[in-house]
Amino acid sequence: MTTPLRLGIAGLGTVGTGVVRIVQRHGDLLAARTGRPVEIAAVSARDRTKDRGVRLTSYGWEDDPVALARRDDVDVFVELMGGSDGPAKAATEAALAAGKDVVTANKALLALHGQALAEAAEAAGAAIRFEAAVAGGIPVVKALTEALAGNEITRVMGVMNGTCNYILTRMESAGLTYDAAFAEADGLGYLEADPELDVGGIDAAHKLSLLAAIAYGTRVAFDAVEREGIGAVTIEDIRAAADMGFRIKLLGVAQLTGRGLEQRMSPCLVPAASPLGQLEGGTNMVVLEGDAAGQIVLRGAGAGEGPTASAVMGDVADLARGVRVSTFGQPAATLTAPQPALSTTPAPFYLRMRLQDKPGALAKIATALGEAGISIDRMRQYGHTEPEAPVLIVTHKTTRSDLEAALTSMADTRVLVGPPVALRIEDV
Ligand code: NAP
Ligand code: HSE
Repeated sequence: MTTPLRLGIAGLGTVGTGVVRIVQRHGDLLAARTGRPVEIAAVSARDRTKDRGVRLTSYGWEDDPVALARRDDVDVFVELMGGSDGPAKAATEAALAAGKDVVTANKALLALHGQALAEAAEAAGAAIRFEAAVAGGIPVVKALTEALAGNEITRVMGVMNGTCNYILTRMESAGLTYDAAFAEADGLGYLEADPELDVGGIDAAHKLSLLAAIAYGTRVAFDAVEREGIGAVTIEDIRAAADMGFRIKLLGVAQLTGRGLEQRMSPCLVPAASPLGQLEGGTNMVVLEGDAAGQIVLRGAGAGEGPTASAVMGDVADLARGVRVSTFGQPAATLTAPQPALSTTPAPFYLRMRLQDKPGALAKIATALGEAGISIDRMRQYGHTEPEAPVLIVTHKTTRSDLEAALTSMADTRVLVGPPVALRIEDV
């Protein structure tokens, strides 16, 4: 008789109850596919009395997730509590110290402590799996770690926060202000308890840092992600970008160049007709580029009970089958300290500004760009009744530092009304 794989699930919220449902609903399917039964031995949450809409009476219960992690009848500790420190970290460390494999959906934990946890796992002969931590139901960790192992990865990019994509697409489709779209997302329960994790780009930057570690064999370097949230994106920019054939996305990009490792999470313009440009609502998309495979586009639900629990169970199934892969795709000791790029890859930029409507104003702006070595690709001035002229400029490729120099010179011309908006245009 085959021995079952016994799970200890810490956290019975959205994702945890989803995992319980899949184990209960698809027990036969999982056993057939993995060759052994997958069972829940015990669970943990804060409130034992809460009705969670799933049957839990046949499982052991622990108030303390660390005690759950150490139970003799638990083979795999499934961490679904969240938080970069506190009980999630303590219980994960306890599970690894006890030689148990860990499956987690916790990107914050791994973005901040991934290297130490990967080393602890390897020292104990245990595995950490985290498919659900990046882009919910999309199997991107598996694709990058396993399927693309024979490629040099040239770029990883994507829209990895569904809430931000929802807000940005609602601003465009319904003509909502940022505040109105944010309120709508809040009403739908999309926002994290701390909304800054979403709109500040932190959640998406956690995810990008994990993919970058796998792609480039580097230690997770969340602090090195250049990050800007979507709070400053206005309906004017959304409309102006659309008018020029672009959409604004909170886009993450990781690439290793001669300048070092670039990790950026910021609002960018992408061509409206591109797969990223057409991504609507709370959906995620990750684009992987390998020297042999070329470009691979993965699209799907980045959050929610079913998709996230699906990713957790994919990891559980691998462990049940005996598939063992290093946390970040290669032994933790071989991951190198990344050299953050001091300057980013040159790109075209979108500039939106208001100019005093007087002779020579536009010429001064063009001169500031020209003197910084920046060439103008397209320029548009709109009809207006107020004394300030709305102007849009799309530059040819330039560096961020040359652009900063041009913006400083522009400010010195005193023809600008307020600071210009400058957004990178990503070549996707
Ligand atoms: P959630 O609904 O807030 O559930 C958290 C669960 O953890 C609750 O059941 C809570 O217990 C339990 N918990 C919290 N502190 C605990 C403690 N000290 N001891 C024992 N249990 C504790 O969270 P979630 O949305 O399921 O997210 C779980 C993880 O998945 C997070 O890392 C999150 O970032 C990640 N994730 C979530 C999604 C998603 O769509 N929700 C998508 C991708 C990744 P009580 O219920 O008793 O309060
Ligand atoms: N807050 C995240 C999002 C949830 O909006 O995508 C999944 O990590």
